[in-house]
Amino acid sequence: MPKWLKDTVFYEIYPQSFYDSNGDGIGDIEGIIQKLDYVKSVGCNAIWLNPCYDSPFMDAGYDVRNYKKVAERYGTNEDLERLFKVAHEKGMKILLDLVPGHTSDTHEWFIKSKDPVPNEYSNRYIWTKSAWDAPPQYRMLVGITDRDGNYMVNYFSSQPALNYGFHEITHPEWQLPCDHPDCLATVEALKDIMRFWLDKGCDGFRVDMADSLVKNDDEKVATARIWKDIRKMMDKDYPEAVLVSEWCHPVRSLYKAGFHMDFYLDHRGNGYSTLFRYLVDGEDRSFFSKNGKGDVTVFTDEYVPNLKATKDYGYISMFTSNHDIPRMTNNLDETARKLAFCTIFTMPGVPFLYYGDEIGMRYQKNLTSKEGGFTRTGSRTPMQWTDGKNLGFSVADEDKLYLPVDKSENAPTVENQQNKADSIFNVVKDIIRIRRENNTDLGSDGDFEVIYAERNQYPFVYKRGNFIIGVNPSGENQSIHFDINIKEITYQIGNFKLENHKLTLSPQSFVLMKI
Ligand code: NOJ
Repeated sequence: MPKWLKDTVFYEIYPQSFYDSNGDGIGDIEGIIQKLDYVKSVGCNAIWLNPCYDSPFMDAGYDVRNYKKVAERYGTNEDLERLFKVAHEKGMKILLDLVPGHTSDTHEWFIKSKDPVPNEYSNRYIWTKSAWDAPPQYRMLVGITDRDGNYMVNYFSSQPALNYGFHEITHPEWQLPCDHPDCLATVEALKDIMRFWLDKGCDGFRVDMADSLVKNDDEKVATARIWKDIRKMMDKDYPEAVLVSEWCHPVRSLYKAGFHMDFYLDHRGNGYSTLFRYLVDGEDRSFFSKNGKGDVTVFTDEYVPNLKATKDYGYISMFTSNHDIPRMTNNLDETARKLAFCTIFTMPGVPFLYYGDEIGMRYQKNLTSKEGGFTRTGSRTPMQWTDGKNLGFSVADEDKLYLPVDKSENAPTVENQQNKADSIFNVVKDIIRIRRENNTDLGSDGDFEVIYAERNQYPFVYKRGNFIIGVNPSGENQSIHFDINIKEITYQIGNFKLENHKLTLSPQSFVLMKI
């Protein structure tokens, strides 16, 4: 396990929307290079960059046309290499986004694969043997190529599924086993892409839909086998590089598949979503909502056993949000978000901050969809830097912008948040700094123990090494019996009282105490 992960806080950058350095209305790699010092000043020492490869952008770049070429709109391969280099000089790491499950239907592999004349790429994707064969349990596109067969897609219709084989073969006439030479060739092609960027200096990958490789693989054993093999290659040739999976099943991803980190995703009703984004029939039942209707045990019941089972293998990564889900501004007020972020950044594992969350950027409802974003588009708007033109994102005319900037009068920006002592920006900076200064206890590896978490009750209190953390997102005072001697109050939002073996946390409060 690369040691650097012990003290890492990631920053996720959506390249389209971070900083436009050449005035064409869209973010670019040079823009990211220019803002590295900013990312570092927030306290983050690593970046996950969403896909920046050549693509027709039917799914914002998750539909890759050429894995080895940076999309022109972001710059050149040399720019990306320079980003690796400058980041390394500043002590920062860069993860690229690896999309192993599918390509764009304009990728040259697919163009060859759909050719009716059999060739090296005929089995690179999953095809039935005849255009009249389309078993309904598979997501197939039917009758749209000259090749006599239908092909499986992995996500949108423009994203044909790469062929890593089938674990259980139910249609032997067209399903290949995982050890078929053509499926093994897909694995080799994936390794080749990884090596290409790792050799140029990237520090690893966030892996898109990591569990989607092998089909008819309910328990994901065959998919895990492929990743274990890839991990072997990394341990041998790139021992400092890391992989984080979009999977949300730590036992499978960390223990069985060999990922270094796994995202705790926003699956509806799971522990993560019920903490921060749980709207049921219009009512906010998130634990962090001020109305106090949440249930923290949905989180602890899931998280604690997973943490225990995988502690020696890898990290569970919690995030403030990402490019696929509404920012927390959608349902939580500013204080609630401060408490939520303080909690995320005092949890074990390797946390991720989504660009703009640190300044309280809004989730922009009702935007016209861009590049397959649909409801996700509202979380992908340009970063808000200054109070000037286009909020400092770009000097282009407004109608040339990739997406509109937040037009509200009081739109938060780095400039106005920096100067406000109690801004969410300063809270995020403070809590990340405290986490990193006390890395042994509060960093990725430190212990985690629940002190108080009860069904439908507040507060939530937990211990990390020599620290106790208490958070009360509800709008009422909340007390618990508390017998622990406190040496120092390290950080607090709102008030608390500690007397007669009772800890009382005021409405919407957070406290980090040293014992
Ligand atoms: C997950 C990515 O985060 C999302 O943005 C993308 O659309 C799908 N995977 C398909 O690649």
